[in-house]
Amino acid sequence: MTTHSHEHAADQAPGTAAQVWDEKYSGRTRMWSGEPNPQLVAEATDLPPGEALDLGCGEGADAIWLAARGWAVTGLDVSAVALERAAAHARDRGQGATITWVQQDLATWVPDRLFDLVSAQFLHSTQMPWQQALQLAAGAVRTGGTLLIVGHHPDGLPPWGAHHTPEKFFTAEDIARELPLEEPQWRVDVLDSRHRSMVGPDGGTAPLTDAVLRATRLAAQ
Ligand SMILES: C[S@@+](CC[C@H](N)C(=O)[O-])C[C@H]1O[C@@H](n2cnc3c(N)ncnc32)[C@H](O)[C@@H]1O
Repeated sequence: MTTHSHEHAADQAPGTAAQVWDEKYSGRTRMWSGEPNPQLVAEATDLPPGEALDLGCGEGADAIWLAARGWAVTGLDVSAVALERAAAHARDRGQGATITWVQQDLATWVPDRLFDLVSAQFLHSTQMPWQQALQLAAGAVRTGGTLLIVGHHPDGLPPWGAHHTPEKFFTAEDIARELPLEEPQWRVDVLDSRHRSMVGPDGGTAPLTDAVLRATRLAAQ
C-alpha cells in the first residue's frame, strides 16, 4: 500500500496491542506512505532541532524526516514489525545512527526523560483510551518544549477503513479540554481542523480532516 491512511480495522481484534499491531503490519509489506505526515511538516519545520520523541512512530517516516532536519529522535511503537521496518528505512536514508527505536506498550511505558518535541500522529488505538495515551505524550515534554498531536477529526474520517469506534477519535478542542492543557503549565499555539485530500487503498482520492493541536509547555507539572 502506498497511501498514507490510518484506518484501523485490525484495531478491533482482541489481543494485546503488540499482537494486534504486529498482525496488522505483517499483513502488508508497507502500511503507510513513507512520507512524513503533512501536519508534522507544517508545524515542525520552523522549530529549532533538539531531542524529539515520536510516539506511535509506526514505520518511521516522521522520525526519519525529523532526524534529517537535525533532531535526535526516539521513535517508540508497540509493534516490533513496524520498528524493524522503520530501522531499515532509516538505514536506507542514512539516518540509522540518529534515531533510537524503542519497542514499548504505552499501557506500561513510563517516560524516564523529557523531550523538546513530542509528536503523536494518528495514535488511535482501542487498546487504551486516547486521553491516557495523549497524557503520556504531554508528560514527556520538557519545559519550553512542544507537544504536537494530530489525529483524524471525528467529523472528517476517511471513507475507507472501519471506524466502528467513534470514541477513539478526537478534535483538537477535545484534547485541550481533556488532558487538560491550561495555563500556567501550557500555552496552546494551534487548535485546528484542517481539510485535505488523500489517496486511499483503492487508488481513489477522498477528503478527510485532521485535528491538529500544538502547545508549548511553560512550566513543569
Ligand atoms: C495509525 S498508526 C500511525 C503511525 C505513524 N504515526 C503514522 O502517522 O504513520 C498508529 C501507531 O500507533 C502504534 N500503537 C498503537 N497502540 C500503541 C500502544 N499501546 N503503545 C505503543 N504504540 C502503539 C501502532 O503500532 C501504530 O504504529
